[in-house]
Amino acid sequence: MRTVRLAASILAANLGQLEQEVKRMEAAQVDAIHIDVMDGHFVPNFALGADIVQAIRKMTRLPIEVHLMIQQPDRYARIFVEAGADLLIVHLEAYHDSRRTIALVQEMGCRCGIAINPMTLVENAYSLLTKADQLLCMSVNPGFMGQPFIIEVLEKVRTAQAYRDKNHLQFDISVDGGVSDETIGPCITAGASQVVIGRPLFIPKDAGETTRLLRARANEVGAGG
Ligand code: DX5
Ligand code: ZN
Repeated sequence: MRTVRLAASILAANLGQLEQEVKRMEAAQVDAIHIDVMDGHFVPNFALGADIVQAIRKMTRLPIEVHLMIQQPDRYARIFVEAGADLLIVHLEAYHDSRRTIALVQEMGCRCGIAINPMTLVENAYSLLTKADQLLCMSVNPGFMGQPFIIEVLEKVRTAQAYRDKNHLQFDISVDGGVSDETIGPCITAGASQVVIGRPLFIPKDAGETTRLLRARANEVGAGG
């Protein structure tokens, strides 16, 4: 049985109590910390940077995935890997040579994922999926937390899983944005093995209750939790 992985999107955390929030996520037994980086160019917002990655690296042994919603991710990859990223996720739509960036990141000993926005065809990423460690399917337009889930993205997840299995590839599939206890089941059924969760994890007092509910919903559709 597949076991769903839950990544906590720290963008939704109370940054004034960052260490307590990270510890709260550890106690809630999330599988990874997801750090959203935004440059105000690729997305109409600014968020977090390498110094936050470095700080969180010192706070937890959980895997850290850094979601670069920035232009020219190849130019800044090294500082995020050196800050402590275990997985660096770059956008297909950003200004860079995606294939080269994936190679660059993996040569540094870091896993590299490719993210695609809701309107981007998954076929556009096919040639990169022979190398990428993860395909991140954005289920909101990137830039902000707390947005509604774009249900049409599930079709892309299904297509990606079929392509992976037909071509015996290894990348895992993650879904990011607006995921909740109502949409995690369809994400898993479509073929995702990981989801990224922001507000539903951080806003309620008891994050453990949220993770238990999310895992229960994932179990219902056949993903061990
Ligand atoms: C959006 C980010 C997501 C977001 C998830 O651009 O990439 O990681 O913070 O937060 P929720 O789960 O609240 O949509
Ligand atoms: Zn993200």
